[in-house]
Amino acid sequence: MSVPIVRTLADLRSVVAGWRKDKARIAVVPTMGALHEGHLSLVRAALARADRVIVTLFVNPKQFNSAADLAAYPRTEEEDADKLAPLGAHLLYVPDGSEIYPPGFATTVSVTGVSEGLCGAKRPGHFDGVATVVAKLFLQTGADIAFFGEKDLQQLHVVRRMASDLDLPIEIVGCPTVREADGLALSSRNVRLSAGERAIAPKLVAILDEAARSLSAGAPAASLLQAANRSILAAGFREVEYVELRSAADLAPLELADRPARLLAAAWLGQTRLIDNVVVQPAAE
Ligand code: PAF
Repeated sequence: MSVPIVRTLADLRSVVAGWRKDKARIAVVPTMGALHEGHLSLVRAALARADRVIVTLFVNPKQFNSAADLAAYPRTEEEDADKLAPLGAHLLYVPDGSEIYPPGFATTVSVTGVSEGLCGAKRPGHFDGVATVVAKLFLQTGADIAFFGEKDLQQLHVVRRMASDLDLPIEIVGCPTVREADGLALSSRNVRLSAGERAIAPKLVAILDEAARSLSAGAPAASLLQAANRSILAAGFREVEYVELRSAADLAPLELADRPARLLAAAWLGQTRLIDNVVVQPAAE
């Protein structure tokens, strides 16, 4: 069976209105396509918690920092639809650009605090673009529950903050990062890695895991993070944007893992920017 595709807000609303009449609980999984097992795990989680699951596919120009990156973003709608069909997703919403940003569109949803630092520091406007499109997708679909991957941990926090601050009647669920057998976090950008880069890429999470073990044992972050930074460069990455220890609850910077925490990193491998994060559990008292 194939997954039905709608491209206009009017068609989306008429499908959703039918489901609402049946009192269905509706989930949304927002994506930019190029679906991989990470996305599919979100769809499975959504199917387990809702009666109807809408996957959205929109390559959102407002969250890209360069026209070249936007142009190079993989677009694989047919393959994406083929991957969704066997799972039993109920609808694929692929809005035309004008359904999201009609002429004259002038509104930005901007979340302060949690969107600053980490990826926000190097990608000005990125989280405004994410918050704006996600707010629209929530309102357009009218979903009760939404699913996001923890690989983009800062994005998950930005979306949670936005939904809470704007009283959007939707539950936000974060799902664990899906990894290749060698540890590399799945990402639509991984297809851009050369064979040599692909061999280096899993070293990022290996270095984070090792640092996380020392942090869990009570080591102070400052020198460990510097050492992790040097190890990432030594492994063959071109540039490290950040390696930081943050509180798991609100992403506040930490100097010690004295509460549940995450170690997050972004680094460039050739022309590809990879991000990842790992759990840091404080040592039991
Ligand atoms: O994570 C993504 O793919 C995007 O940032 C999202 C949430 C679909 C918004 O465009």
